Amino acid sequence: MRSIIAGAWKFEVLAAAVDVGLFKAVARREGGVASVEQLAATLDLDQPTLEDVVSVLVDLGLLVATEAGLTCGDQARRLLVDSSSPEYLGDYVAFCHRSFNPSWRDLAAVLRHGTPRTAEVESPYDSLYRSEDLAAAFLGGMESATGQLVEHLVREVDWNRYERVVDVGGATGDVLWGITRRHPHVDAVVFDLPAVEPHFQRRADGATDVGFVSGDVFVDPLPPADAMVVGHVLHNWDAEASRQILDAVRVALTPGGTVYVYDQMTTGSGTRRRPLSSLGMRVWTAGGAEYSVEQCLGWLEEAGFVDLAWQEVDPTGDVLVSATKPR
Ligand SMILES: C[S@@+](CC[C@H](N)C(=O)[O-])C[C@H]1O[C@@H](n2cnc3c(N)ncnc32)[C@H](O)[C@@H]1O
Repeated sequence: MRSIIAGAWKFEVLAAAVDVGLFKAVARREGGVASVEQLAATLDLDQPTLEDVVSVLVDLGLLVATEAGLTCGDQARRLLVDSSSPEYLGDYVAFCHRSFNPSWRDLAAVLRHGTPRTAEVESPYDSLYRSEDLAAAFLGGMESATGQLVEHLVREVDWNRYERVVDVGGATGDVLWGITRRHPHVDAVVFDLPAVEPHFQRRADGATDVGFVSGDVFVDPLPPADAMVVGHVLHNWDAEASRQILDAVRVALTPGGTVYVYDQMTTGSGTRRRPLSSLGMRVWTAGGAEYSVEQCLGWLEEAGFVDLAWQEVDPTGDVLVSATKPR
């Protein structure tokens, strides 16, 4: 029981260490070895507090105490040092600390009433995108979450069949950068909210293989395409909004075109459950939750799609559903 209670405190220690740049500072020292005194001086930190923080991080295996001094543990070196690495998790830690984890405090209210307090006021993206650096942390976090999924999509789908692919809610375009790297003939476009565009352009860094169309999927028509991707999007919305999104996709797809939907879907039989991920959506969004493969297939069928199929995406835990608009 006490270890469950302390779990939240341990995350705070990790988030604070990421916030002050502790792991990067250790890695930057000669030989990747640092003393507490050096770190306190370089980062201008309170040394007695830092000593406690370091002790917790050593217990967690994120720092290693050697005779020469402190070094980063394997996980910290791989996931928390190099911001340009596709695996970098520092942005995701910052997003969880500032936006996602505080919403979990509403869980008892959601349990009683079914929706979070903020639900009727706004979508989580309204508050997220009001702050430039919170938006950057969120979008960076999304990038670190999609690496293996992009590999799967590129490997399992024959993108040679398509000329134009639109990623609805595609954020900074990870999926499409992955597809166009292997299939340069594909005309690829991210459709996402206007606030995402500057972050997309920063990531693109002048490259033009992927374009960006800004808009709101509930208001603006989607750009036409013969394939569309809707990934980690529907779990942000309730069933009615999900139907609306899939209907907008059907309208924009050319006849014979295909939609690819991925999320941490469950199965109706209960063999795949994603309770923590689902609760996260319940507290962070207005009506979102992880949904079942069967529900997704039902929405697609109602929207008029045919040739429905699904597969698990190992090892991410996602399910990839595909469906075709009749000719
Ligand atoms: C959880 S992220 C998923 C990003 C990416 N598809 C992935 O798999 O990592 C959801 C995306 O939906 C976008 N989004 C939210 N509301 C939207 C709206 N009304 N219209 C278009 N995009 C929206 C967000 O900006 C965000 O990029």
